[in-house]
Amino acid sequence: MQENIYAEEYSEIIKNITASGKKYYIFTIGCQLNENDSEKIAGILSALGCIKSESAERSDIIIYNTCAVRENAEKKVFGHLGKLKKLKEDNPKLILGLCGCMMNQPASVEKVRNKYKHVDIIFGTQNIHLLPEILFKHISENKRVFDVQNTQEIIREGLPVIHEDDLKAWVTVIYGCNNYCTYCIVPYVRGKERSRKTQDILKEIRELSDKGYKEITLLGQNVNSYGKDLEEHTDFAELLYNINEIQGIERIRFMTSHPKDISEKLISVIKDCRKVCKHLHLPLQSGSTKVLSAMNRHYTGEQYLDITDRVRTKIPDISLTTDIIVGFPGETDRDFADTLAIMKSVRFDSAFTFKYSKRTGTPAARMQEQIPSEIIDRRFLELLEVQNKISREKNEEMIGSVVEVLVEGISKKNPLYLTGRSEGNKVVNFPGDTGFRGRILPVKINRVQTWSLEGNLIKTGERSN
Ligand code: 5AD
Ligand code: SF4
Repeated sequence: MQENIYAEEYSEIIKNITASGKKYYIFTIGCQLNENDSEKIAGILSALGCIKSESAERSDIIIYNTCAVRENAEKKVFGHLGKLKKLKEDNPKLILGLCGCMMNQPASVEKVRNKYKHVDIIFGTQNIHLLPEILFKHISENKRVFDVQNTQEIIREGLPVIHEDDLKAWVTVIYGCNNYCTYCIVPYVRGKERSRKTQDILKEIRELSDKGYKEITLLGQNVNSYGKDLEEHTDFAELLYNINEIQGIERIRFMTSHPKDISEKLISVIKDCRKVCKHLHLPLQSGSTKVLSAMNRHYTGEQYLDITDRVRTKIPDISLTTDIIVGFPGETDRDFADTLAIMKSVRFDSAFTFKYSKRTGTPAARMQEQIPSEIIDRRFLELLEVQNKISREKNEEMIGSVVEVLVEGISKKNPLYLTGRSEGNKVVNFPGDTGFRGRILPVKINRVQTWSLEGNLIKTGERSN
């Protein structure tokens, strides 16, 4: 198994660290790509003989996997670091580590180096595989180790992974981003697009299937760029066709797609492949063509509407979700009204809405006409209100229909209910037996909320639609 190969490679280091049987705790901020990286960090630590702990307070190693996409996420890290100082004072042997996108920014690393002296180790997103050496160096030489040098053109395959869940798993298929949307820090911190080889991805998914996983979500900043940088002649649609053939995997999801890269071939794959969920997450960002141009998004409001029309014509019951930013520099009331108009026209099932956050180093940060926060706050609330109403109405339209639910377990809110997700990625709660976990079952919807659906299991043959 890959875990052992990795362990052997680091046997010297393992001897040193296992002896202590250290307990570790990983705190993850940010997107699913970060969550997936944290699973690899957990895999490495576990291969080194460390044990997962349920609380930061009772751990010997605490790793913070950081995010740089918005300022709030950065503030959160520095806030936590302040609090962790006390833990470190109480337990000087505690190893405190930072990794993730923020650590690919020299200014943040310098700030930690100078102001947060209780941080022991730092590693960048491309240096996760070096964690054993970094820990070894820190422990054996008793010094701070910062390893953020950029080796980003290489993809490290075969790192051990400990998945958070045993039914659903994330699988990163492409790293980095070449799009340079003017507000976004990601291309600067995550580097150029690098696709994993198809055979490596398929191997990983086959192994997940052997372990009993039912659903996988393919991850990338822009999955539609998959394959463009590979020697093999392939693309994302081909990848989906191939994964659809893997026995045991019942659901395939993916995110995120850039509207400019949605091909007819991809729409056909979503329609034709049974296991590919009828759900498309398609960030709009803004409905104003002027703002979209300033964002460097390469599509107009009309083109976005045309894409969603084409998708819905081919797949009428598809669930559409999106990301929207309010308050991009220069956004007028008129531009914002264009965003609301597209939201009302497309009627997304749900939307992640963000207040524009100024990221030093991005072109948008240097633009004139930064929008005052009161205006951003007002627009943000209005956007939420409009979207919540639509989300609820869309859910109400589902009353009486039957959805297939992958049963995940007991509902946290009501222990008499099971919970799971529909193909369109909506939370569905229904009464049932815990033995149903892991099965995909038909549920007839009879009540809805803004964020979830409720219903009853139906027996096969009882379906009305
Ligand atoms: N400010 C606000 N939102 C941002 N996003 C990316 N960069 C910023 C920023 N500077 C949002 C986009 C993207 C999502 C992951 O985060 O909507 O799709
Ligand atoms: Fe950022 Fe744009 Fe790349 Fe998404 S596509 S990660 S928003 S630069």
